[in-house]
Amino acid sequence: MCGIVGYIGKKDVRNLLLEGLKRLEYRGYDSSGLVVFSPTGFNVIKRIGRVAKLVEATSKNSAKGTLGISHTRWATHGGVTESNTHPHVSSDGKIAMVHNGVIENYVEMKKFLEIKGFSFSSETDSEALSNLIAYHYAKEKEDGEDTSRFFTAVRKALSHVEGTYGIAVTCVDYPDELIGARKGSPLILGVGKGEYILASDESAIITHTSNVVYLDDNEMVSMSRDGFRVVSAADEGIDPVINTIDWNIEDSEKGKFEHYMLKEIFEQPAALENAMRGRFSDDGSTAIFGGLNLTPRELRQIDRLLFTSCGTAWHSCLVAEYLIERYARIPVEVEYASELRYRNAPLDKNTLVFVVTQSGETIDTLGALREAQRRGYRTLAITNGVGSTIAREADGGIYQHAGPEVGVASTKAFTSQLLIVAMLALYLGRLRDMSYTDGAEMVKALRSVPNLVRETLKQDQHIKAIAAKYAGYADFLFLGRQAMFPIALEGALKLKEISYIHAEGYPAAEMKHGPIALICEECPSVFIATGGEIFQKVLSNIQEVKARKGKVILIHSKSCEVPDGLVDDTIIIPDAADSVMPILATVPLQLLSYYIAVERGCDVDKPRNLAKSVTVE
Ligand code: AGP
Ligand code: GLU
Repeated sequence: MCGIVGYIGKKDVRNLLLEGLKRLEYRGYDSSGLVVFSPTGFNVIKRIGRVAKLVEATSKNSAKGTLGISHTRWATHGGVTESNTHPHVSSDGKIAMVHNGVIENYVEMKKFLEIKGFSFSSETDSEALSNLIAYHYAKEKEDGEDTSRFFTAVRKALSHVEGTYGIAVTCVDYPDELIGARKGSPLILGVGKGEYILASDESAIITHTSNVVYLDDNEMVSMSRDGFRVVSAADEGIDPVINTIDWNIEDSEKGKFEHYMLKEIFEQPAALENAMRGRFSDDGSTAIFGGLNLTPRELRQIDRLLFTSCGTAWHSCLVAEYLIERYARIPVEVEYASELRYRNAPLDKNTLVFVVTQSGETIDTLGALREAQRRGYRTLAITNGVGSTIAREADGGIYQHAGPEVGVASTKAFTSQLLIVAMLALYLGRLRDMSYTDGAEMVKALRSVPNLVRETLKQDQHIKAIAAKYAGYADFLFLGRQAMFPIALEGALKLKEISYIHAEGYPAAEMKHGPIALICEECPSVFIATGGEIFQKVLSNIQEVKARKGKVILIHSKSCEVPDGLVDDTIIIPDAADSVMPILATVPLQLLSYYIAVERGCDVDKPRNLAKSVTVE
């Protein structure tokens, strides 16, 4: 979690850092701070709360410089206080550092450093590392080294760290050097002319340069105004690969929308088109993916698929289970990445592991990926994070091409994952028993999705009115069957995340085994029923709720016949093939939670306690 921006160059660093922090704020927004390296030394400014507070404080400070580091925090160790805010300056005043991640052995480090005379002014794990760098720096001095003393001190300190880090570090004696390093937390380097920017992701770099180096774990970078060098933990030089960012800043601006979340909901037709572009065979009967790095023959050897991820992306894995088992007849297992990693689950030898992740940086998902690879399994990633750690480490994968998603609550990235898993079901199905005709029909259904989503979005104002009616309730149930069950889970998660209303998702028929006890006038239920053989059964579940005075909002497809007066409110989505129904049913749930949150005055794009990309365990 958290956002880091560091800069060395010729420009005034303050505005540059603040502009970068604003773009990274979605990664954490408990507090923020910066250090400007001015001719008088470190100028530290910190504020609790949003970056706007830091901007205000900085405008009253006259410090100027062309080297600096900054951070927007998502607290893991220590409360949300000014002293816990990064940057952390070592107690001898030599080192200033910002950190993303968790130093697991910080307690031992602290004890050691206290004996050595260092003191602590925060409760964070991070401060232990800035003091440890200062300790090694002082020690190098005693040993008589000089030009690379700062760099060596950082490298030696990092060799003692257990845990994860992305750091940017400056030393008061080195006004011409900025150092970055990563292990487990993302860090990239923007390469400009006579200037370099370190940042947690591309959005803080893109307005300055589109040339970036994605640092790998255990790599360090040292930058001056004349150049940069990347080295391994063992101090061996590495030839950096300079990549080009392929999106521009307008893609991530809010435009006419009040919130990123709403903008991203409305961007779904385009995101879905992008996910499909160039990915159907010439004969129009199957999907094609360029980056799986597996031949059809190898794929036929696979007996089982394991899908793993976190949060919203985990819901798309559950949909994958329904679709792939149905269309490709391959058994699919779904696991939370955070559980899989430590569970030591016995896996079939011919299992193919998929990880699904918007950011490509979620540490739990990365941990599961690495564990699967360690055990010799082939891994593929479905991700929106081009150049992300997971994209680079997986054996192959499928990019979502949904464009930057800034709203903390995932919307367009989720529906694009749903489309990709449907395309995967088609592709794998066609490698096995799905006929040409069935394949061609499925391709047609998938191609129709962007327009069907456009049609669904027309209900925006109708859904807004329903939201106004229900915004005052404190509890909700979301109920659906089969592939609509994961969509019910997603509907409940969206509502929880952005409006802080307690909501639970259940398979509709499970309701009678427990959750029905919650039903009363004060607990509305949102049912999702899109026809098919179980539609009548869902209607019976609705009757059970109505019999207990529960209010019901029903999302159903156009041709479903709903008895008059049965439900309180309806949202109608277009008729479509089962393979794409999860996508269509998701859209009204996104709008419902969005408008309820707005009605309650919640900060939709930056919900409390959350961060977009969870890069700590
Ligand atoms: C989405 O609304 C959530 N904020 C969260 O559950 C998210 O889906 C999860 O943290 C996984 O993120 P990823 O897709 O970037 O790996
Ligand atoms: N562990 C550090 C802290 O709590 C850094 C957290 C982060 O990644 O923002 O301050």
